[in-house]
Amino acid sequence: MRRYYLIIVSLFFGTMGTYSQKSTIPSSIKNVEAKVDSVLNLMTLEEKVGQMVQYNGSWDLTGPASETGNKQKEERLKKGLVGSMLNVLSVEATEKAQRMNMENSRMKIPLMFGYDVIHGYKTIFPVPLAETASWDMDAAQESARIAALESVAEGVNWTFSPMIDISRDARWGRIMEGSGEDTYLTSKVAVAKIKGYQGEDLAHPNTIAATAKHFAGYGLAEGGKDYNAVNIGKNELHNVVLPPFKAAADAGVATFMNSFNTIDGIPATGNAYLQRKVLKTDWNWTGFMVSDWGSIAEMIPHGFASDKIHAAEIAVKAGSDMDMEGGAYEAGLQKLVADGKIDETLIDDAVKRILRVKFKMGLFEDPYRYMNPDLKKNVQYQDHLSTARDIAKKSIVLLKNENELLPIKNSVKKIAVIGPLADDKDTPIGNWRAQGETNSAVSVLEGLKNANLDAEITYAQGVKLGTGERSFLMPLKINKTDTTGMGEAVRNAKNAELVLMVLGEDAFQSGEGRSQVNIGLAGLQKELLKEIYKINKNIVLVLINGRPMEIAWSSENIPAIVEAWQLGSESGNAIADVLLGKYNPSGKLPVSFPRAVGQEPLYYNHKNTGRPSSAEHVTYAHYTDIENGPLYPFGFGLSYTDFEYGKPSISASNLKAGDSLSFSISVTNSGNVKGQEVVQLYLHDLVASVARPVKELKGFQLLVLEPGETKNVEFIITEEMLKFYTALEKWEVEEGEFELMVGGNSEEVQSLKFNFSKS
Ligand code: NOJ
Repeated sequence: MRRYYLIIVSLFFGTMGTYSQKSTIPSSIKNVEAKVDSVLNLMTLEEKVGQMVQYNGSWDLTGPASETGNKQKEERLKKGLVGSMLNVLSVEATEKAQRMNMENSRMKIPLMFGYDVIHGYKTIFPVPLAETASWDMDAAQESARIAALESVAEGVNWTFSPMIDISRDARWGRIMEGSGEDTYLTSKVAVAKIKGYQGEDLAHPNTIAATAKHFAGYGLAEGGKDYNAVNIGKNELHNVVLPPFKAAADAGVATFMNSFNTIDGIPATGNAYLQRKVLKTDWNWTGFMVSDWGSIAEMIPHGFASDKIHAAEIAVKAGSDMDMEGGAYEAGLQKLVADGKIDETLIDDAVKRILRVKFKMGLFEDPYRYMNPDLKKNVQYQDHLSTARDIAKKSIVLLKNENELLPIKNSVKKIAVIGPLADDKDTPIGNWRAQGETNSAVSVLEGLKNANLDAEITYAQGVKLGTGERSFLMPLKINKTDTTGMGEAVRNAKNAELVLMVLGEDAFQSGEGRSQVNIGLAGLQKELLKEIYKINKNIVLVLINGRPMEIAWSSENIPAIVEAWQLGSESGNAIADVLLGKYNPSGKLPVSFPRAVGQEPLYYNHKNTGRPSSAEHVTYAHYTDIENGPLYPFGFGLSYTDFEYGKPSISASNLKAGDSLSFSISVTNSGNVKGQEVVQLYLHDLVASVARPVKELKGFQLLVLEPGETKNVEFIITEEMLKFYTALEKWEVEEGEFELMVGGNSEEVQSLKFNFSKS
C-alpha cells in the first residue's frame, strides 16, 4: 500500500517524491482542484489532521506559550503532521523547518510560514490607523508590497494582515492596528493591502498570502476591553462589520483568521453562521480559515466547550480550518472521526482549502522558493525608507493651527524641543513591529536636526514616560513620580521663541492586550505641558500615539496640534517635513477624537435616537456634563492652505433602478500654497426598514490644487451605493428619499436630496 502511494506521489510531483523535492508542475497553476483532490486521496486521516495544525516556531512569542515542546514539534514536523508554522524567521530557519518536513514526511506537502507583518517587516511604515489617515490607497498598497518583498527575503510567505476590524472605541488597544471606525474606508484599505501583499499571482516569489482578520466583530469588544464579548445583532453585523471582509473575499484574499471574542454569545471560532454560512456558502470563498492563537481551546473558558476535544468538534463543524498553536485539532480530530462524532468529509473540506492555497502559492512546485538568499540581496532597503517617509508625511493630521504658528517660520531662531517622545527612537516603530529594530526610528529631534535649520534647537526630555523593560507581552510601567527633568525643560522653554512639545503614548500603550480606561496624556506629561504653558504659550504639540486621545485641555489652550501617530522608521523626518512646510499636511482622521473618554464608543456613523436634540430640556440623548459630538470628527484635518467648496449640484432628483446620478461640487484652493484635500461623500437613507446611520461614507477623492486653482469633483451615485442589509435580511435597496452630503470632513457638509424608485 505504502509503495503504491509513493509511486503516485512521485508521478504527481515529478522528482519531488525522490530527493530534490521539486516537481514539474508549472506555477501558472491550472487544474488546481484536480491536483488538490488527487493529493487528498493519498492522505491518511492523521496526515489530513496534520495539515490543520499550525505551530509556533518559538523564535518569537505572540501569545501564551503552548504545551507542545520543541522536541515533540520536531517529531511531528518530520512525520508531515504540521500544515504551517508561525514566527519562524530567516531563510535559514524556514529552510530548516521545510527540509525537516520535506525530507522526512511521507506526503511531502510543503509548509507555509506565517508572521504578523502588520505595518512593514524591517522597514516600518505608519501603524495602520495612521496610514489610513492618508486616505491614499496607492500608499496603502505600496507599503504592503514593500512589506511582502522584505518578508519573502526572510522566508516568510504569509502575513496575518490586514486587520479590518471596525473599531469605534479608543480604549481598545488594537484600534491602532485597523483602519478606524468606517466600513467603507476600511473596505478600500482591505483591498489595497491585499493587492499589495498578494500582487497578481500568489505563486510569484515576490508575493505573500494575506489574511483578512479577525472574523468577526473583534473590534467592537464591549467597553473597549480586549478579548471581551461583542453584543451586536445581525443588522450591525452585516451593515458595519462584514462589508470589509466581503471586499477582502472578493479581492481574493488567500486566508481569513477568526477571532477571540464571542458574538452574541457564540465564540467567533465556533460560529458556523459566520464561517460556514456567510463566508463559505453565501460568499462562496474558497480559501482557508486559520484560528486565532489558541482560540479553539479558548472556547473552554468561554463556557462553550467542555474540553479540547469538544472544542475541536465545535470549531471544525463551524468551519475553522487550521488550529493556531491551540493543540485542540491534534488532540481531538482523529478521535472525533473514530467515534463517529464528525464526518471525515468535514476534515476533507478543510484540508482541500489548505492544499488549494499551497498550490496557488506555487509551494508544490518549489517548497523552497521563498528561501532563496538572492531574494534578500535584491531588496532595496534604502528606497523603502524613502517610501516610508513619503507615506509617513501623508499620514500626519493637522488638528489645530492658530495664528498660523505652523509651518515654522524662517524668522524663528530659537526652538525648544521638549517631551519624553521628542528623542524617542523606539515608540514611532509602534506595536506589531515585526522585525523593525528597537530604537531604529528617526526621532523628531533627529528629523529637525537633519533639516539643517537656521535656528538654535535645544532639547529636554522633561519627564520619562514608560520605565523599565518594554516588550510585546509584558505590562508597561508608566513614570508617575520622577520629575527630575522638569526644571531643564522649563528653562529651555523660557529662552525659546517656539516650543515643540512631543507627547503621546509609548509604543506599548496600544496594541494587543493594551486596552486603557484613560486615554489622555499618561504619567506626568500633562503636568509637564501645563508647566511649560505657564511660561511660554507659543507651543506646537506633536502627538505620537496609536489611538485617538483625550486632549480637550490641549485643544482649548495649545495653539497648534499635529497628530503624528506612530509613523514608523522615518517618523522624525516626515514630521519635520510637515512642521517646516516642506509637505503641506493632508491627512484626515479615520476615527473620531472624543471630548472625554466617557463618550466612547464614539463614531460619526451612529444612528439617531428618537430624541436627537433639544434646546431647553434635558430629556434628549446626551450627557449633561459635556457637549455632544467629538472634539475632532471623523474625516477632519487641516491644511496650510484653505479649501472653499462651491454649491453642490445633482443631475436629477430621481434615481431609478439601474440608472445613475451625478453629484458634483467645485473646490477651490483659496490660500497661498499647493495642497491636497480629501473630498468626502456621505449618504443618509432617511426612512428604512431598519434605522440607518445619520450618515455613511460612500466615496472620496484626493484633490491636489495649486493656489487659486478650482476643480470640479464628481461622484456617480448608483443603486449599489444605496444597498444595505434590510429587515428582510437581504442586501438590497429600498425605495424612498436619500440625502447626499459632501465636504472636507464628516461634520462640515452640504447636502442635497433625491428619491430612489425601483421603476
Ligand atoms: C493573536 C492576534 O490576535 C492575531 O492577530 C495574531 O495574528 C496572532 N496572535 C499571531 O501572532
